[in-house]
Amino acid sequence: MRFDSVNYETQGSTAIITFDEPDKLNALSKGILSGFCKALDQARNDDNIRVIVLTGAGGKSFCAGADISGFEFTPTYAKNFIDEVLDILALPEQINKPVIAAVNGYAFGGGFEISIACDFIIASERAIFSVPEIQLGLLPGFAIARLNKLIGRQQAKYISMTGVKLSPEEAKDMGLILKVVPHEQLLQEAFALADELASKPQMAIRYAKSIYNRELGGDDLTYAKDAMPFLLLDEDTKEGITAFREKRKPVFK
Ligand code: COA
Repeated sequence: MRFDSVNYETQGSTAIITFDEPDKLNALSKGILSGFCKALDQARNDDNIRVIVLTGAGGKSFCAGADISGFEFTPTYAKNFIDEVLDILALPEQINKPVIAAVNGYAFGGGFEISIACDFIIASERAIFSVPEIQLGLLPGFAIARLNKLIGRQQAKYISMTGVKLSPEEAKDMGLILKVVPHEQLLQEAFALADELASKPQMAIRYAKSIYNRELGGDDLTYAKDAMPFLLLDEDTKEGITAFREKRKPVFK
């Protein structure tokens, strides 16, 4: 089955959701955002599905984050964009079935954020994790809201305020991901974990997820939503985004 730019397959009680715009490194285009929502709905509403595996097509990228090619420099665009996207990034937290991110390559920006919204991250040895928004004059709002608790304030600030690229081993050492596996075995490993979770009593699994997620308040996401319209009016942000489009290094004031 296909929903817009997202493939949806099932294997036993596991749903496999694949972002599928590899030419754009599976950046969060309109087709990927809408397809992702529809695919999660399909998995949520199918009683035979117990676990969801999320991955990216093309071998090189899980998801390269927000689609920078479409950014407009107006507060109205920024407000609508961030309101919509932040809620979609949080969807893996909200679905009552476990979600495993099988990160096959770049997990950048919103792709990084979707991966940390999942319950488990298994990474290929080729994965690279980064929230590079600072280079565009923007903020990874969802990551900032969640990273504190996931990896502690120092590491959270370091990766969100520098945009450093993390190898999967570094991400594992920080406690960001569950394990690193050979590239060819990524899906096999994700399915093995999915099968293990699917074999447990599902009521208990769903309660466990909701108890872990009970502290995920909405307030911190509101701060991120409020920042975006202002950032898109900033000269440095315009320069960061324009430089990415023109494939050159930004020159910030
Ligand atoms: N939005 C839109 N298009 C994107 C994209 C994004 N977030 N990330 C990559 N692409 C596009 C590139 O523009 C390029 O398109 P083209 O072939 O038409 O020129 C294509 O995907 C391949 O990307 P490229 O940069 O050539 O690949 P790479 O392997 O050299 O670099 C990255 C990969 C992920 C390091 C680099 O693409 C990147 O930094 N992307 C932006 C990530 C980002 O800032 N995300 C947060 C956005 S708020």
